[in-house]
Amino acid sequence: MRTPLIAGNWKMHHGVTATQAFLEDLINQDVPTAVEVVVCPPFVSLPVAAMLTSGSRIALGAQNVHWESAGAFTGEISAPMLIEIGVRWAIVGHSERRSLFGETDEHTIRRARTAQDEGLGVIVCIGESLAQREVEQTFDVLEGQIAGIDRLDPRRMVVAYEPVWAIGTGHNATPTQAQEVHAFLRQRMTEAFGQAEADLLRILYGGSLKPSNARELLAQPDVDGGLIGGASLDVDSFSAIIRTAAECAAGD
Ligand code: PGA
Repeated sequence: MRTPLIAGNWKMHHGVTATQAFLEDLINQDVPTAVEVVVCPPFVSLPVAAMLTSGSRIALGAQNVHWESAGAFTGEISAPMLIEIGVRWAIVGHSERRSLFGETDEHTIRRARTAQDEGLGVIVCIGESLAQREVEQTFDVLEGQIAGIDRLDPRRMVVAYEPVWAIGTGHNATPTQAQEVHAFLRQRMTEAFGQAEADLLRILYGGSLKPSNARELLAQPDVDGGLIGGASLDVDSFSAIIRTAAECAAGD
């Protein structure tokens, strides 16, 4: 039985003041124990978020992390810096990092490997573009993106399948499309890590996941939670998704 994980990727939203208001509100709404909750604010909001979530059931994630632990890398943040302030997770390989900032599959694996070595859990994002899906390259693209994943520790990793055409567009993958890809990924994880590890590893869906479609997506057998962008910015919609994940885990 995999505990569902609901992670909010705030992207470049919510500075310190908004982060404080959001988290005070979220902490007041009891987070169900059946769900693991992670919020990923922008870097500058992480210290205040760490203070507010300390001792709560909400874990913190960063939106990226560098592959070296220190050095001359202007504009980058390292895993030890994140750990020092209480961050437990890092997103790597988000499609916006790939398409807008030129990050590659190899960067993604290197970032993830160092983060894990330093003690962070990683949320490894993969997903095909619309053009790739239309020419039936989805599985080949995903295969390429996870080519080095066997260098990572499956116990400190979740995979997030985020079809690029679904991110921020309002057009989510159908539950059938999501389950088909997640089952394929579970099979690949079995080949990389063995059955027992693949059975434990959580595969999240991301891409226009919101309260109105959360139930049908999260009810799929190989969908173990979500990475949520737009709908994670509002406490009410984020907590509605968390509650739905708890209900799906309970089989309701
Ligand atoms: P979205 O973003 O929920 O706004 O589609 C998801 C993501 O980019 O992680």
